[in-house]
Amino acid sequence: MAALVELRDVVKHFPVTRSLGEIARGAHPAVRALDGVTFDVGDGDAVAVVGESGCGKTTLGRLMLKLAEPTGGAITFGGAPMAGLTGERLRDFRRQAQLVFQNPFDALNPRFTIYRAVVEPLINADIDKAEHADRVASAFRRVHLADFDRYFDRYPHQLSGGQLQRVVMARALVLGPRFLVADEPVSMLDVSVRAGILALLREVRETMGLTAVYISHDLALVRYLCERTLVMYLGRVVEDAPTEEIVRRPRHPYTKALVAAVPVPDPDQSRAPLPIKGNVPDAREPPSGCSFRDRCPYAMPRCAAETPMLRSTTGGHRVACHLD
Ligand SMILES: Nc1ncnc2c1ncn2[C@@H]1O[C@H](COP(=O)(O)OP(=O)(O)OP(=O)(O)O)[C@@H](O)[C@H]1O
Ligand SMILES: [Mg+2]
Repeated sequence: MAALVELRDVVKHFPVTRSLGEIARGAHPAVRALDGVTFDVGDGDAVAVVGESGCGKTTLGRLMLKLAEPTGGAITFGGAPMAGLTGERLRDFRRQAQLVFQNPFDALNPRFTIYRAVVEPLINADIDKAEHADRVASAFRRVHLADFDRYFDRYPHQLSGGQLQRVVMARALVLGPRFLVADEPVSMLDVSVRAGILALLREVRETMGLTAVYISHDLALVRYLCERTLVMYLGRVVEDAPTEEIVRRPRHPYTKALVAAVPVPDPDQSRAPLPIKGNVPDAREPPSGCSFRDRCPYAMPRCAAETPMLRSTTGGHRVACHLD
């Protein structure tokens, strides 16, 4: 299937405050939030992005929505370079691509009613006022807020976390988008309401034919929602494969450690936790060669000398490891 979003060698560096020594040396240190990321998101696909805190997941999501610009590389949406989107074409992109925030308590203005929160994207997109009430009502129906008109003049603090996340989703869906990025969509929610929100995410994706990128720490969520998973480590994709392959036959030592860290409800599988030492290195000064080598139980001299490229192997896998 054709790709909706294509990323080619995407780089995002954030300049950081320089020390006196760095100024004297003329050095320009930067956090390498993304360090050469290449992948496609097929039209209609659900792709997960997983990895430890700070590996660049949110940065990646923001670039795919043009909420930030890459330092290098290129991103295209529907074949058009995103860097060149301006004016009406940018407004059109903004209608098609939407974000679901992690924290519904932060995503909504506490002084606006729920109706106002959901109608706002229609106002911003210059949609005819005569259509507003119907469109808002239909968005509320999509997210199964029963008796939706009861919610219209309430304020965010009057709703539960689960209800609020449904309102946040109604807001993201009201313009009828094609592409959704959901950044940790349930991590702030009570365990008791998570399953309902996940089921809703899956349902709206199927009924609306959405292309979706889910950013998450949670492999169980990923397995439920996404056919394909990208594993990131320190600004790079280290493994990209069908989710079942990632969970059952992880190839990269880092993916093995991630998978070993979560209990998989499968009696046929018993996995000893993989030793993984230390913390994620400083993204200002990643190690030479493979950035995982300091923590990798299989590291060899070549890993310090040469950065492993993401290469296709068997089983629809792409892996960036010299062992593979
Ligand atoms: N606006 C910014 N200015 C400077 N550094 C930033 C900025 N945004 C992100 N970073 C840095 O870029 C790196 C990647 O951050 P990002 O938020 O994308 O990670 P993440 O994978 O989403 O982490 P988490 O799982 O904690 O949400 C981190 O080192 C972070 O400190
Ligand atoms: Mg994040």
